Amino acid sequence: MKVLFVCTGNTCRSPMAAGMLERAARQRRLEITVSSAGVGAWEGAPATAEAVIAAADYGVDLKRHRARRLTAALVEGADLVLTMTRRQKEDVLALVPGARGKVYALKEYVARIEAELGGGQEERGPGGSKSETIDIPDPIGCSLAVYRSCAGELHAATETLAAFLARKRASAGMKGEETMRVALGADHGGFHLKEAIKEWLTEWGIEYQDFGTHSAASVDYPDYALAVAERVAAGEFDRGILVCGTGIGMCIAANKVPGIRAALCHDVFSARATREHNDSNVLTLGERVIGQGLAREIVQVWLQTGFVGDRHARRVEKIRTIEERYRGAGAGEA
Ligand code: RB5
Repeated sequence: MKVLFVCTGNTCRSPMAAGMLERAARQRRLEITVSSAGVGAWEGAPATAEAVIAAADYGVDLKRHRARRLTAALVEGADLVLTMTRRQKEDVLALVPGARGKVYALKEYVARIEAELGGGQEERGPGGSKSETIDIPDPIGCSLAVYRSCAGELHAATETLAAFLARKRASAGMKGEETMRVALGADHGGFHLKEAIKEWLTEWGIEYQDFGTHSAASVDYPDYALAVAERVAAGEFDRGILVCGTGIGMCIAANKVPGIRAALCHDVFSARATREHNDSNVLTLGERVIGQGLAREIVQVWLQTGFVGDRHARRVEKIRTIEERYRGAGAGEA
C-alpha cells in the first residue's frame, strides 16, 4: 500500500506525518510505502528547523528531507492520499479528478476509522461543529511550541492510522485476502483440540501446516513445541499454535526459542491483549482446561488482532535485548 501525505510547502506537516507513519508502520511490520509532497512546494527546500526538532521528539529524522511538488503522477501512484486541510483535498482532486475516493483530509480519514472501529465520534458534514477541527493548520512561521502541538496532532493521527492498518491486515488474513501461515502442533493431551483448530482454520481460509502429533498416543510436548517454534522464529510461518493438556508445557518450551513470544491464553481478553501488547507469535492452549467454544473464540481473536506498537514496541524490543544477552550463553563450555 502506498500512502501519500500532502500539505502546502512539503517542509513541515506532510514530511512530519510521513516520517511518523513510516516509523509506526516499521514498528508494526506493516508493508506500506509512505511519501509526501506539497501543492505549492519549492522543489528541494529542506524541512524547517522547527519541524526537524518537533519530528525528532517522535524519533523521526527530517534532516535530509527535501521538498517536492505534487504532481498528477504522484497522486495516481498512491493508494491513499491524505491532506492536512480540506482545501488541499480539493486541490488534489482538481489535479486528478479521478482520485475521488482515495483522497481525504487526514483528520477526516481518522474520524472515519474511529467511527468504523466504533470508538470515535460521528463524522459531521461541512458546516457541522466538528468541521473546523478537521484542518491541521500550517505552523510555518510560528513558534516551536506551535510546531510541537502540530506534531502531537500528527502523531495521534498517524498512530490511529497505523493501528487501523495493522488490524485490517490481521482481519484480511482471516478472510484469506492476505496469506497468513500458521504452524500447528500438539502432544497427546492437545491432539483433539488441534484437530478442531485445523477445521476452523480451513473454514477461515487460513493456510496451516500440522507438525503433529497425529494420534492420542503418548508423546513428549517439547518435541512439538520446538518443531513449531523453530519454524515461526525462522519466518517460515507467521504464527504458531500449540496445544497440550494445560498449554503450560508448550508455552515454557516454545519460549526457549529466541524470537518466540508464546502466550498461554484461556480467555478472550488475554488473547487480544497479548497480540496488541506483546506481539505474541505463538498461542498455547490447554485442551484439558477449556472447551472448544471458548478455544475457537480465543484462536479467532488472537489471529485477528494486530500489534499496536508504540510504547509496546519499545517493551518488545527490550525482550529482544534480553534474548541477545543470553543467546548462546553456556555454548562452547564443554
Ligand atoms: C501430558 O500429560 C501433559 O503433561 C502435557 O500435555 C501438558 O499439559 C504439559 O504441560
